Amino acid sequence: MKITVLAGDGIGVEVTREAVKVLSAVAKIYDLEIELDEQLIGGAAISATGAAFPDETKESCLKADAVLLGAVGAPEFDHLLPEKRPEIGLLQLRQALGGFANLRPSKAFPALIDSSPLRREIFEGTDLLIVRELLGGLYFGQPRAIGETEAFNTMRYSVAEVERVARVAFESARNRKGKVTSVDKANVLETSRLWRETVEKVAKDYPEIELEHLFVDACAMHLVTNPTRFDVVLTENLFGDILSDEAAVLTGSLGMLASATVGGAIDLFEPVHGSAPDIAGKNIANPLGAIASVAMLLRYTAKNTEAAAAIENAIDKVLAEGYRTIDISNDKENFARTDEIGALVAKYAVEFASVRSNSQAV
Ligand code: IPM
Ligand code: MN
Repeated sequence: MKITVLAGDGIGVEVTREAVKVLSAVAKIYDLEIELDEQLIGGAAISATGAAFPDETKESCLKADAVLLGAVGAPEFDHLLPEKRPEIGLLQLRQALGGFANLRPSKAFPALIDSSPLRREIFEGTDLLIVRELLGGLYFGQPRAIGETEAFNTMRYSVAEVERVARVAFESARNRKGKVTSVDKANVLETSRLWRETVEKVAKDYPEIELEHLFVDACAMHLVTNPTRFDVVLTENLFGDILSDEAAVLTGSLGMLASATVGGAIDLFEPVHGSAPDIAGKNIANPLGAIASVAMLLRYTAKNTEAAAAIENAIDKVLAEGYRTIDISNDKENFARTDEIGALVAKYAVEFASVRSNSQAV
């Protein structure tokens, strides 16, 4: 399996290092041959080459089976227009790979329930998956422009774009609790009317799945008042961006969450968090979102459920034993460091993996 590794900026570098550590350790146990190719993206790529998504990076990605990304974004580019900023590298990468369905799972980790900003009785049992449309809407809609006295973006969706991402949501619900909540703003936006009608049509092919519609503002509210009502949340690009940060932070920290982008030629895996320049280079970032992204890579691209589960069990074990990076630690003096968490997860994942592969050999 060829994997292009794009650590990117800020804490992306540190968390990706730990994710690769865990991946390499587990791959050995399962005799998975993994070829890693490290390339530049984002601010690091702009500084080195002038482009946020250089040709060399693109070529490597297009030859890969999967891409593992850290994070992009750095304050020294803050004054620039969107098209010159590191973030454009990520958008160009997404477009090049073609994945249109961004899967962002968010669930209550039993060991972390008291780190959630929500009360235990509200949050306990939460287990949801946001399916965010990733290649349409305001992010990519044309025309777009900025002038002296006004600026505009275009929100545009075609039936085909809605249909394909809706199918991913319904298929995902089949392997979960069997419910899809489609989120839109159909009381105001034409794109949302089209979205809702199209989702209704797709739903006919999945009679066993329960479908409900929510307006995005109501969804934002239900996420904090009654998160256990959700299973699969299907929504367009910008709404999904906002709701997935909200859903992620309910778990106690944005640093915990992983994502997979599927449906295109090449799958993309990345933690939900950003580059967090304020804590970069201090070895204090939470690497669990990046490590969980590797687990998703093993599950979705390598189709190795066991290897994925070994990593997920290892994450649970590290948390159950009380190891915490500063973002989820109650003790802000004594806490585990990024590389310490990575090494522990790698060690436990290897133990879980060895038990499984030995018991199979017998
Ligand atoms: C995310 C990020 C990106 C997005 C930014 C960095 C372009 O916030 O992956 O959620 O808005 O999609
Ligand atoms: Mn975001």
